[in-house]
Amino acid sequence: MDLQENLPDIYGDKKRFVQVMENLLTNAVKYIGKENPCPHIDVGTQDRDGQNVFFVRDNGIGIEEGYFEKIFQVFQRLPAAKKTGEGTGIGLAIVKRIIEHCGGSVWVTSKPGEGSTFFFTIT
Ligand SMILES: Nc1ncnc2c1ncn2[C@@H]1O[C@H](COP(=O)(O)OP(=O)(O)OP(=O)(O)O)[C@@H](O)[C@H]1O
Ligand SMILES: [Mg+2]
Repeated sequence: MDLQENLPDIYGDKKRFVQVMENLLTNAVKYIGKENPCPHIDVGTQDRDGQNVFFVRDNGIGIEEGYFEKIFQVFQRLPAAKKTGEGTGIGLAIVKRIIEHCGGSVWVTSKPGEGSTFFFTIT
């Protein structure tokens, strides 16, 4: 796993931030794919228009574009995920709640079979 050096300082509710990271990292590990020859997870930030965008990127099973919104709703689990690991389907709903409560946003880009990157901002 690569953790970017010099991550920015952030101010806010530490417990909530940890909860967000825990959920995203647990997913990254869980959905990395059982047969993945070279599992890899990256954590870092990007600057977008002067705003810090955090990301958690994996090279796992990926998500079809049609589900990019749906997975943030409760109890939505994709068929590929059900084969890969156990879950109830609430992790990302909690992440979205926390992030939006803080005035930020969360989104995903992904390609099936190639991996997923979850981005979020906190204001
Ligand atoms: N990193 C990822 N790679 C591929 N699919 C993912 C990833 N993260 C989430 N998903 C998909 O989104 C669904 C919803 O994720 P979410 O974290 O809400 O639930 P879960 O991991 O299934 O269960 P829980 O987090 O409640 O234990 C997953 O079931 C899976 O289909
Ligand atoms: Mg989860």
